[in-house]
Amino acid sequence: MPIYGTRPEAIKMAPIVTALQRAENLQCVVTVTGQHREMLDQVNELFGIVPDHDLNIIQPRQTLNMVMAKTISGLDEVLVVEQPDAVVVQGDTSTSTAAAIAAFNRGIPVVHAEAGLRSFNINSPFPEEANRKITSQISALHLAPTSVSRDNLLRENTARGDIYITGNTVIDALLTVVDQRVAFSDPQLTRLADEVGDGRKLVLVTTHRRENQGEAMRGVGRALARLARDNPEVEFVLPAHKNPVVREAILPFLEGLGSITVTEPLPYGEFTHLLSLSTVVLTDSGGVQEEAPGLGKPVLVMRENTERPEAVTAGTVRLIGTDEERVVDEVSSLLHDPAAYEAMANAVNPYGDGQAAERSVSAIAELLGVGSRMPEFQDGLSG
Ligand code: UD1
Ligand code: UDP
Repeated sequence: MPIYGTRPEAIKMAPIVTALQRAENLQCVVTVTGQHREMLDQVNELFGIVPDHDLNIIQPRQTLNMVMAKTISGLDEVLVVEQPDAVVVQGDTSTSTAAAIAAFNRGIPVVHAEAGLRSFNINSPFPEEANRKITSQISALHLAPTSVSRDNLLRENTARGDIYITGNTVIDALLTVVDQRVAFSDPQLTRLADEVGDGRKLVLVTTHRRENQGEAMRGVGRALARLARDNPEVEFVLPAHKNPVVREAILPFLEGLGSITVTEPLPYGEFTHLLSLSTVVLTDSGGVQEEAPGLGKPVLVMRENTERPEAVTAGTVRLIGTDEERVVDEVSSLLHDPAAYEAMANAVNPYGDGQAAERSVSAIAELLGVGSRMPEFQDGLSG
């Protein structure tokens, strides 16, 4: 039983669901919590997934405790009815950790996809670093995306045999859609794509992290407004997160600036198309940090640390924090200094090769005694 609730979990779980549905010796029952609604549904729709159970827990301005409490109580009933042999949770969201706890308390083995990521700062990202550590403590099988995440788990005394390196399923998802160059539903983006084809530069921006909400995010808003005024030849696109707290912080600074296009959350196919057209990516997203390097896009990460050091080491991702001056300087440098740009614009694939879901399902089959593991993902990183 895959269980998920937010957009990034849905994107990363979709390839696993598809592979489970194909597996002859396994039955797949999908449960969503509905921690997200529109942003979750648009992913399920794209991948043709119709959940068997939907807890529909979302509330405007929900708190972490509301999400966890509703997930655990709602799942308890589903677990009793379905009696799954294992549940699969993904990553570090409230849904993911609450689902792991609910299954653990019912004596059901937990499979953790994207296991072993660590920032080594319990307050950043908050609460995700704590969530993923809690889930590690109660998981039976740890699907680590890279050797770096495998090593983090080994350092915490996780049994080597319970860890298996798969690559990240986000690369499976990306490779499924990116070459389709899905048409944009917003005519503004269609126009913009044509202009990029004619040589115009595009900066793609996403932001939503809890620890950036408030003054840090207002600083990012001010930085974007300055960048747009100073660089009228450049287009900026911000697909805005549905979270009203995020919108209230950032959007007031962007009003009336013709070269900044603010959209609703884009369907995954459109977003990856836009990513493939972008010159520079400015983000605090985890998933975008993993996708953009594979497309050779320089990524400036508006955070002080990351649990995804692989592409930082490869030189394609740079941590810049949220200071207004620094954001302006770093984006300007990539827009105007070809040497700085070339130094970062390398296509690297430390996060996967598109086979992560098949590997994950092979390890789940082994856990349940109906198959054996494929060879592990070779990420080419030392460790
Ligand atoms: C959550 C995850 C975070 C992940 C992010 C992905 C936790 C603790 N955090 O962020 O790890 O990076 O999702 O985007 O689980 N909303 C809607 N419709 C939607 C989605 C959200 O209206 O489809 C609004 C609601 O008002 C909701 C708010 O956004 O209350 C925040 O959503 P929530 O999932 O609570 O966000 P985070 O916890 O910040
Ligand atoms: N994404 C999307 N539409 C958008 C913005 C992002 O489909 O408008 C995708 C993106 O490609 C990535 C995922 O959403 O796979 C990241 O989600 P988010 O940034 O919300 O969460 P995080 O990865 O930080 O947990």
